[in-house]
Amino acid sequence: MDNRLHQEFMPEEVIEEVRSRTDIVEVISEYVSLQRKGKNYLGLCPFHGEKTPSFTVTPEKQMFYCFGCNVGGNVFSFLMKRENWTFVESVQSLAARYGVSLPEKELSPREREVNRRRRRFEEIHELATNYFHDLLIKAPEGEPGRLYFAKRGVDLETMKRFRLGYAPEGWNGLINYMQERGVQPHELAENGLALERGAQDKRGGFYDRFRNRVLFSILDRRNHTIGFGGRVLDDSLPKYLNSPESTFFNKGHHLYGMHRGHQGIRDKGFALLVEGYMDVIALQNASYPNAVASLGTALTRDQAKLLRRYTQHVVLLYDSDEAGIQATLRGGEILRDAGMRLDVATLTGAKDPDEFLKRYGVEDFQKALSQVLTYVEFKYRTIVKEAPPHNIQEKAELVVQLAPDILKVRSPIEREGYERFLSLELGLTLEAVQREIARLEQKKPKNVDLKEYSQQKQVSSGKNRDNIKDVIFCKGDTPPPSPTVYLGVYRAERMLLRLLIEDISNLPKIKEKLGESFWKVSDHQQIFDYLNQEGRLPAHSEETVQSRLASLLLEELDISQTERLLEDCIKGILSTQEEERVEDLQARMAALEKSGDMAGAMALLKEIGERLKRGE
Ligand code: GTP
Ligand code: MN
Repeated sequence: MDNRLHQEFMPEEVIEEVRSRTDIVEVISEYVSLQRKGKNYLGLCPFHGEKTPSFTVTPEKQMFYCFGCNVGGNVFSFLMKRENWTFVESVQSLAARYGVSLPEKELSPREREVNRRRRRFEEIHELATNYFHDLLIKAPEGEPGRLYFAKRGVDLETMKRFRLGYAPEGWNGLINYMQERGVQPHELAENGLALERGAQDKRGGFYDRFRNRVLFSILDRRNHTIGFGGRVLDDSLPKYLNSPESTFFNKGHHLYGMHRGHQGIRDKGFALLVEGYMDVIALQNASYPNAVASLGTALTRDQAKLLRRYTQHVVLLYDSDEAGIQATLRGGEILRDAGMRLDVATLTGAKDPDEFLKRYGVEDFQKALSQVLTYVEFKYRTIVKEAPPHNIQEKAELVVQLAPDILKVRSPIEREGYERFLSLELGLTLEAVQREIARLEQKKPKNVDLKEYSQQKQVSSGKNRDNIKDVIFCKGDTPPPSPTVYLGVYRAERMLLRLLIEDISNLPKIKEKLGESFWKVSDHQQIFDYLNQEGRLPAHSEETVQSRLASLLLEELDISQTERLLEDCIKGILSTQEEERVEDLQARMAALEKSGDMAGAMALLKEIGERLKRGE
């Protein structure tokens, strides 16, 4: 991902060139074991679970097709589906693999410079990875590293798979090695691998950043190193030293273990989020290739988004100490906000998953995983352990404390599950709990949008719709508008109204793209209907509509941006509508599958596939 050229420009001839040089059987073989059957190849479909093969690849046509789930296409669509890449990313990856050079004419000088620096960054990191890795696996100086990993049960195979390394003692091992290969010390420093001596140090010059540490190479999805985490061999501090943040290494954007994790997460259907590098390695080795970890910092929204590209379901498995519990609560909030289904696993008798596996083995681990708590339940238990409620008053307060988490749950069934859980745990009636939570739902602050407006003038477009989903629940002004409305959609609607009030000639375009009854907030619909029929603002209307209008009119508008704002709002709403449709189909499909109506489920799956394809 980090290596992708910053260009969306892709001439038809180049795409054709890539297509013609690509061997679809070779590419797909990396994901599916294929058997030759006459002109075709046959294997188990990677897009739906099956026991007898119905997935075919036809080299003659350079196409694939599954008779089981009706998914088919060319090598690009295969990669788009399987890797979650965009079309351009698929072409780029194959172009790199089959040696087709992509045109760079369209890049600005600045972009070309960034590309050059990115390539240099990669080159240097490749060299460094090999240097540290070879030291670890074969050089005499690597002995301490080998001993350390041996002690922690890491074998040679694993060292290779994770490209582990060892940085020996001494101040310029890497610097010398690199200099022989044409990389100057200042370049190493620019790329985070060396440091410059201070002005008062008369020796001057540079020295290696990583010394006498075992190194965890942080690999991107193409197995290229983008940074290192270096751990001491004993108990000295700091335990870890990581590559510094840079243009090409953004810690908040990556997860350790993702080079295998992206596949593992999809296969397992959920991500196992842990704290330590060693936990990832131990788990991936113990048949949990879906284990990943953040890079020594608290979980970020970007990491949540990254995970959501592969799954909707995360199991948090942080260390069992107090810090781990706090990190679970914080990380949980972020994952919840990203709309994930979230469970929390706890391990007893060991400080982290690595130690647990060594002590008790995979079977016990599996057992522990089967006893996960939902996030709401975990939070409830954590609070209750600290301060058990003694009377009705305190019980009600507890409900209030958990309400924000429950309000973020989108599925009404799941939500009721939590409400029921609380009612049972606290000995309150379900109605009482539900009433309490519903009350809070309506107490959302008034006019949040006015305050936030200045920070967020523009609404995300379809491509960037994550923004729209970031804030799941906004009920806006009193009284709360109809069901759950995404804050992004809410804002988009407001902006559209504002634009209409400013210039009624925007009306045809909105109607053309979105129709007349797409508004999620009923007050918005009312105002729109009026504008649509009368071409002007209503002189009299309900109080709520009036106050909404007033706040709309108060908002300033950047007139020079109206064209783009209009486009963005329309796109944002359209893409959310599409997403909701797909989610709806998925829910219906799951219901059909459960009821045993496989044919019906297949039909829906096909429709979902087509919609997703169109959405790309
Ligand atoms: P061990 O099991 O003791 O080998 O280590 P671990 O990898 O499990 O580390 P630990 O549970 O102590 O910490 C979890 C993660 O936090 C590590 O993998 C690091 O990413 C990060 N971390 C821990 N200590 C430090 C530190 O001193 N500095 C930095 N920058 N990160 C740290
Ligand atoms: Mn640990």
